[in-house]
Amino acid sequence: MRNALITGWGKCLPPTLLTNHDLESIVDTDDEWITTRTGIKERRISHVPLSDLAALAGKRALAAAGVEPEDVDLVMVATCTPDTLMPSAAGMVQNKLGATSAGAFDQNAACSGFLYSLISASGMVASGVIDTALVIGADVLTHLLDFSDRSTAVLFGDGAGAVVVQATDEDAGIIASRMGSDGSVAEILWAEGSGSATGYKEVERNHQLAAISMNGPEVFKRAVKAMGDASSAVIEEAGWSVDDIDLLVPHQANVRIIDATARRLKLDSSKVFVNIASYGNTSAATIPIALTEALENGRVQPGSKLVFAAFGAGLSWAAVALKFGSRVTPISEIDEELPPTDATVLDLLADNFAYFGGGPRG
Ligand code: ACO
Repeated sequence: MRNALITGWGKCLPPTLLTNHDLESIVDTDDEWITTRTGIKERRISHVPLSDLAALAGKRALAAAGVEPEDVDLVMVATCTPDTLMPSAAGMVQNKLGATSAGAFDQNAACSGFLYSLISASGMVASGVIDTALVIGADVLTHLLDFSDRSTAVLFGDGAGAVVVQATDEDAGIIASRMGSDGSVAEILWAEGSGSATGYKEVERNHQLAAISMNGPEVFKRAVKAMGDASSAVIEEAGWSVDDIDLLVPHQANVRIIDATARRLKLDSSKVFVNIASYGNTSAATIPIALTEALENGRVQPGSKLVFAAFGAGLSWAAVALKFGSRVTPISEIDEELPPTDATVLDLLADNFAYFGGGPRG
């Protein structure tokens, strides 16, 4: 039987750190609050456009799969922070990779975007529409942060992760999936004014329109329920019990959301992958980055039973039960890195501060 298998994986994190201690000098917060309420210690700020992060994560995933760019049929980029709204980030990535035979499009389900894309691409591969897809989750949400708003400024970071999905005869791949959405409460997590519904005069009058605003406690509650329920549904549909799960790779938004989701599933914390301390919430990128690190750390074995779960703006959510394939090591690796930068984190955020009005406190 033809299945769709993850055969390559890669990540790209920009090098510049924004630590909790840095944030103490920017907004009224402290390391202890951020660590205990979110689990985050530091996050990255990108010095390059989103498409550069996405392209490098994609190149690393292609090398791991042993796939040449010209053999890719589809480049899909899950993002809500493309370089430009038109053309798509995926088109730019296709060009940067030299994926000359590929179609390319973006997909926006915010933090759930990578799972929506993985489910879509796997369906296309399994049904024979295409043979090879490069699925990238990438976001630079710090671009949409108002650093004078402490309820959002401490949560997000920039990054990209990618997987290659290929046709296989192996008995592996996605076994069950769920996607969900509730647009009736969209305004509890949104970047109002970031799209075409905002009048030109309004944008001119109020420069703060495009920043992310969020009702944190409400998002928290709904995230735990949606991720827990969707995970339970895919575990049941896969015919698994919770004991069968080798690893839960959840969206990294807040360590307390992750812990509460695992408790709701009655899953031991030793079976949950968490790396939020290092990167914060990188939106659509958290799951492919976490999966890449889980593979690098030997937490995924041949045939491992994995559950992915995500939640984000929309509201949107998704979960996947997936049996990993027989190869868990990369076929090859590349040396390429992002261009170096001498800029400090404050240099990189200077334009943001000038626009939204935040900045180092005197
Ligand atoms: N530093 C210090 N104090 C803070 C900070 C901060 N950075 N942020 C808020 N506080 C204060 C509040 O002002 C409040 O003070 P008060 O009691 O004097 O009014 C107090 O801390 C508690 O605030 P809450 O909002 O109730 O804190 P909570 O425990 O809920 O934690 C948090 C807030 C971390 C935002 C949490 O609600 C959360 O993680 N929610 C989910 C957010 C999320 O995951 N969003 C992304 C989804 S993915 C996507 O699609 C983009």
